[in-house]
Amino acid sequence: MQKIIILDFGSQTTQLIGRRVRELDTFCEILPYNKFPVGDDSVIGVILSGSPYSVHDLEAFKVDLQQFVGKVPVLGICYGAQFISHTLGGKVEKADSREYGRANLETVDTANALFKGFDRGSQVWMSHGDTITAIPDGFQVIGSTKDVKNAAFWCPPNSQLSNGIWAVQFHPEVYHTAQGMTLLKNFVVDICGSRQEWSAASFVDTTVAELKEQLGEDRVILGLSGGVDSSVAAVLLNRAIGNRLTCIFVDHGMLRKNEFQQVMDDYRCLGLNVIGVDASEKFFSDLAGVTDPEQKRKIIGRDFVEVFNEQARAANSKLSTLNSPLKWLAQGTIYPDRIESLNITGKVIKSHHNVGGLPKEMHLQLCEPLKWLFKDEVRRVGRQLGMPEHLITRHPFPGPGLAVRILGDITPEKVRILQDADDIYIRGLREYVDTDGETLYNKVWQAGAILLSTVRSVGVMGDERTYENPVALRAVTSTDAMTADWAHLPYDFLAKVSNEIINKVRGVNRVCYDISSKPPATIEWE
Ligand code: XMP
Repeated sequence: MQKIIILDFGSQTTQLIGRRVRELDTFCEILPYNKFPVGDDSVIGVILSGSPYSVHDLEAFKVDLQQFVGKVPVLGICYGAQFISHTLGGKVEKADSREYGRANLETVDTANALFKGFDRGSQVWMSHGDTITAIPDGFQVIGSTKDVKNAAFWCPPNSQLSNGIWAVQFHPEVYHTAQGMTLLKNFVVDICGSRQEWSAASFVDTTVAELKEQLGEDRVILGLSGGVDSSVAAVLLNRAIGNRLTCIFVDHGMLRKNEFQQVMDDYRCLGLNVIGVDASEKFFSDLAGVTDPEQKRKIIGRDFVEVFNEQARAANSKLSTLNSPLKWLAQGTIYPDRIESLNITGKVIKSHHNVGGLPKEMHLQLCEPLKWLFKDEVRRVGRQLGMPEHLITRHPFPGPGLAVRILGDITPEKVRILQDADDIYIRGLREYVDTDGETLYNKVWQAGAILLSTVRSVGVMGDERTYENPVALRAVTSTDAMTADWAHLPYDFLAKVSNEIINKVRGVNRVCYDISSKPPATIEWE
């Protein structure tokens, strides 16, 4: 299949470039800047990303352009543009002031294939500390803003180059660049010649065929979490190998209200072969009296692995009597999980939490059918597989569940209180249709209630004084959970939910709304 290679120089928006290219129904791979796949004939174009570095920094990332320049079309974005200029004989200097924010393309060469369909004055988004003061010989300027003359330039194909080089100092991948998608489409489809053959339907067909081939008659085990990724992975595998897939869904007792039963019912309707395990007693007893957030996470992680392994062993010995032991462990790992763990700058922003340490004696191989997909693509694949919408649009939920939303130690009673408050809140979000016709639930990335059980405050209920716990409500907007903003929920909605929680949930006498962004806060409180 045709692909675009995006070389990652460490910019925060590299993933976004990848998502945009996929939106153009074109497969792409994001690779560290120095890992270009020389000799891969399926590469139809290369995009060089931005970077936190200046080309003059000693530690700046460098790539040998000869590997692809002239062979396939190349587009440099921000640092990518500066690197091209710097390397091929142009000049990059410190800008007088950081060029950051909105600008307009006052001149733009719409006869150039990159700018086909562009409007004069089109808004672009700049974010750089250096600026290109001279472009290399043989290059021509094709776009300028008031402050940045060499905002876009290109080198046409010539006797040495059978394909052109394009470079833009602004970021076409971000939302604030009004015609950014037009630019990327011009590059990917018109210039590189993408046949736009990457779609959910083609992904399902090829992946099911590949899984059949890879797995043959083998048996596979998979841990379900109730979330989108593991559920889609399971349905995809089920389509390929049917009941040779065994799924395990562990209830640690800290899921949302009634969630275990509902999700089990959904899974059964989807025809999955699922073992549901209620292990809540073990988790509650191991967590008793533990207040430190990291300690809580560790205990839950450890217990989870223990329960999962026990079930995996039991399933395996049952299957071994049929002479058909488990050979594979499947996981719902998605592309961003892998890109982050490959992060070239070496700064880990968020670590990931997959099932770890399966029993060694089982010698399982890893199968990750969603490893190339972004989250929105996983959802599209889920729809393609006919999964119910409520499973597909479900908010992310942390592995340790409500345990990281209860401050202090965990007891079944506190979980019950939080489940009731959370249930009122989430139901409210699902029922409230905003002015644009969308429910609040679908408009936010993630929402949940937090029980501040280490805090007590005074209230009045009827004629009585109360001294109870507050509940905090949190809702954030985000595209990838790396950064998030608090959602501006309507006051009438907050008022209604607050009333209902205080009136109906015993043990709660105050409701607060969390208005912290990430960073500096995180989405979860613990
Ligand atoms: P934070 O709190 O770091 O969360 O802003 C970012 C995203 O990750 C989710 N999260 C987890 N997911 N296991 C998971 O599967 C975990 O231990 C975990 N901790 C946080 C969180 O809900 C948010 O979507």
